[in-house]
Amino acid sequence: MEQRKKIGVLTGGGDCPGLNAVLRAVVRCSVQKYNFEVFGFRDGWKGLIDGNVEPLSALSVSGILRRGGTILGTSRTNPKKNPDDLDRILYHMKKYEIDALIPIGGDDTLGVALWLHERGFHVIGVPKTIDNDIKGTDFTFGFNTAVEIVTDALDKLQTTAESHHRVMVVEVMGRHAGWIATMSGIAGGADEILIPEIPFDLDEVCEKLKKRYERRKFAVIVVAEGAVPKDGEIIATSGKRDAFGHVRLGGIGQWLADEIENRTGLETRHTNLGHIQRGGTPTAYDRILSTRFGVAAVDAVAAGERGKMVALRSEEIILIPLEDAVLQNKTVDPKLYEIAKLFF
Ligand code: F6P
Repeated sequence: MEQRKKIGVLTGGGDCPGLNAVLRAVVRCSVQKYNFEVFGFRDGWKGLIDGNVEPLSALSVSGILRRGGTILGTSRTNPKKNPDDLDRILYHMKKYEIDALIPIGGDDTLGVALWLHERGFHVIGVPKTIDNDIKGTDFTFGFNTAVEIVTDALDKLQTTAESHHRVMVVEVMGRHAGWIATMSGIAGGADEILIPEIPFDLDEVCEKLKKRYERRKFAVIVVAEGAVPKDGEIIATSGKRDAFGHVRLGGIGQWLADEIENRTGLETRHTNLGHIQRGGTPTAYDRILSTRFGVAAVDAVAAGERGKMVALRSEEIILIPLEDAVLQNKTVDPKLYEIAKLFF
């Protein structure tokens, strides 16, 4: 009797809503359409290093479509830091006879996926980042949910800012790219949006703010965590780094609020939305995109594709080489930012 193909799957890096919907799609499509077996590795690459694996059936993914987070767990484990860890990944790929691996993750996770592909393993990646900054795909799942969450927060913050005649600074996620800030800023009617792509001039921001305040006696500013002042440096209060060497961001909102209050005399408060943006149930859009990505990844495995990543291009799900996805970040479209600026 012919052996059933064994598919491995893992979720790596920061979590986001829609990961479980991808897992469900990978399992259901594998089992129902191709009669493949599926094995989930726990906590990202750590699961492959430690051999922490569990079989996934249609029953084990039942009811998870709408659930945030990932039932497999995740981590920012970077096996490239330790050659022994890389060896253990190769060892466990062989030990569990994984015919193809579907890693779901951002550029760090997919960088390790590319390494594995270069060693002759069958790998198909699924792009994941709340920041929506992976090159090659129009959107990543989870991003739409985050934009909804931030827009809702902006609506709420606007009413209290207006009542108290305050400036409200809202810090959102966005390390290299200000997609969440720009999209939710447009949707939430922000008076200023500061993003990593465009270093900001604090004097200019304060001048514009004073004019705006004269008219309406309150203002809401959205700032991406990776935004940088002109002639300044990235502001990150924790001083810590993750295993991939990325600085743990956070703090620009408070810094900005203090500077604005000192320079303009306007009463200013700050709110950091933090991990709330990555939590909770995915929107319908994200559930659909996740499902399409999961199915497309399994279809790609079945078709014998290798070293590719599924991606959304216009209305279509396509395959692109993994190396194209990990080379660069996708920054905010200047035309979109121009639209946002019209309303500052
Ligand atoms: O990588 C996505 C991201 O959400 C960034 O926007 C943010 O800087 C980082 O993850 C936060 O990471 P952690 O969950 O490890 O604090």
